[in-house]
Amino acid sequence: MLTIESLTHLGLGRASDGQSLLPRVLPGEEVDVAPDGTVRIITPSADRVTPPCRHFKSCGGCAMQHALDRFVADWKQDIVVKAVQARGLDTDLREIATSPARSRRRAKLSGRRTKKGAMVGFHARATGTLVQIPDCQLLTPALIASLPALEALTVLACSRKGEIDLTVTEAPLGADVLIETEKELVPQLRMELAALANQYGLSRLVWNDEPLVMINPPTQDFGGAAVVPPAGAFLQATKHGEATLLSAVEEITAQAGRIVDLFAGCGTFTLPLAKRAEVHAVEGAAPMLQSLDRGWRDGHQLRRVTTEARDLFRRPLETDELRRFDAAVIDPPRAGAEAQIATLAASEIGTVAMVSCNPVTFARDASTLVDAGFVMPWMQVVDQFRWSPHVEVVAAFTRR
Ligand SMILES: C[S@@+](CC[C@H](N)C(=O)[O-])C[C@H]1O[C@@H](n2cnc3c(N)ncnc32)[C@H](O)[C@@H]1O
Repeated sequence: MLTIESLTHLGLGRASDGQSLLPRVLPGEEVDVAPDGTVRIITPSADRVTPPCRHFKSCGGCAMQHALDRFVADWKQDIVVKAVQARGLDTDLREIATSPARSRRRAKLSGRRTKKGAMVGFHARATGTLVQIPDCQLLTPALIASLPALEALTVLACSRKGEIDLTVTEAPLGADVLIETEKELVPQLRMELAALANQYGLSRLVWNDEPLVMINPPTQDFGGAAVVPPAGAFLQATKHGEATLLSAVEEITAQAGRIVDLFAGCGTFTLPLAKRAEVHAVEGAAPMLQSLDRGWRDGHQLRRVTTEARDLFRRPLETDELRRFDAAVIDPPRAGAEAQIATLAASEIGTVAMVSCNPVTFARDASTLVDAGFVMPWMQVVDQFRWSPHVEVVAAFTRR
């Protein structure tokens, strides 16, 4: 028998033998591990609950449905607090904002052919086999409603063996679907796919890099501006998470008349901020900026927005370029923004709003700012990856 001592940042239980890392257990639980690796809970934790989703046992899409919401919230907050403490930082922690069930509006699913047709879903945790998820508690009802369309597309787009990737995003007038496959797109297949897109009321269907049909523009609303993102482009995972991050970013930059939005994507923050400030959006992917720019041009009563396609790892904005801004918003990928944070730290900019999906690089970049004379009055964990080990955080930095 083993006792679970703590959880890793991936949600695996560290067992009392000093070596086992066990899935779907909780601290304090006593467990038996069978020779085939099956874990049997002997003494359950008071934080253990019946998983709300019937697919949880087989599906690898979620990792933490066996724990109370409060437990998961405290565990995620603790990961971020420990990461900043390891850098010698201290700050106020605002209460976590957890997105509700059935609110994930974008997902990458896999599809494969079966004898009877096709199946679409997430991979199982241990075996990697595909699990169908008709009652998934994570995805929005609109994404669940798109599953039959994705299955029909898989029958056409997938070869007999192998799998395809399907990125599906909720849009107001029908799902926005990107198929990534190695199958060749011959003219007959193109026609059949377009007919399916019409039949199932998709708003757009894209095949690898090639748009097949756009029946309705798959717009995303960023503060009233309608943006059509490139297929499969980054979006915050839930509308709730996006709104929470945006209101934090708006609060932090409230006094700024000129803002630079670094790693701006399609304008999640740029366009709402442009209701009251001039914004310069910098981002590596030019097509995302084209979408942002089109949204701004079609928008109403927005201040000036400029865009710049630039690799911010290799060519961060330099201190003299930062001189024209009062505040920076920075929302880098998991690697963080070491080079860009270094020039922000060396600049005269007075306010930084940082959003991060990686507590380790967040803490590293936060400590660079604090070492350069910033204070971090508060941070907040925004859990838009409910039931997964992912952690998102937003924090305020102002010059002392
Ligand atoms: C976490 S997303 C944030 C996007 C946007 N702020 C939002 O909320 O929708 C990170 C963004 O950084 C961009 N990116 C990744 N590497 C980059 C680089 N080296 N230089 C500039 N942008 C980069 C990605 O294309 C992506 O849009």
